[in-house]
Amino acid sequence: ADGDAAKGEKVFVKCKTCHDVDKGVNRVGPTLKGVVGRPVASVEGFKYSEDMLAKGKEGAVWDEATLAAYLPDPKAWVPKTKMAFAGLKKPEDVMDLIAYLKTKP
Ligand code: HEM
Repeated sequence: ADGDAAKGEKVFVKCKTCHDVDKGVNRVGPTLKGVVGRPVASVEGFKYSEDMLAKGKEGAVWDEATLAAYLPDPKAWVPKTKMAFAGLKKPEDVMDLIAYLKTKP
């Protein structure tokens, strides 16, 4: 089932100290404006970890499957990611968040 973007906006409160989603600017983390469909580690001018850059070089793209793999436990998918975030433990939060991110192309 698809997520609920309105609920996802509330989940995004956990992300917005580090991530912009409207202006296309980088903060502690890279902008997430347009992240759905974007190649991993591809924001110009953002200094990614070596591990995230390696995922990008493998050709990984941020789609529903990769976001759903990364967000519940970032270090499980990208072991040395510099994203200091424990992860979203509720599967419905992940689906709602993805639905929200899709509204920010
Ligand atoms: C990277 C999502 C919370 C800091 C990323 C990326 C995504 C993401 C998709 C990869 C972007 C790309 O490849 O361009 C999220 C979501 C969050 C969240 C949805 C909330 C649920 C946070 C928080 C922080 C943070 C709270 C800061 C404490 C970072 C950093 C990176 C990153 C530093 C770069 C990681 C690296 O290069 O290894 N985030 N994030 N994020 N995020 Fe987050």
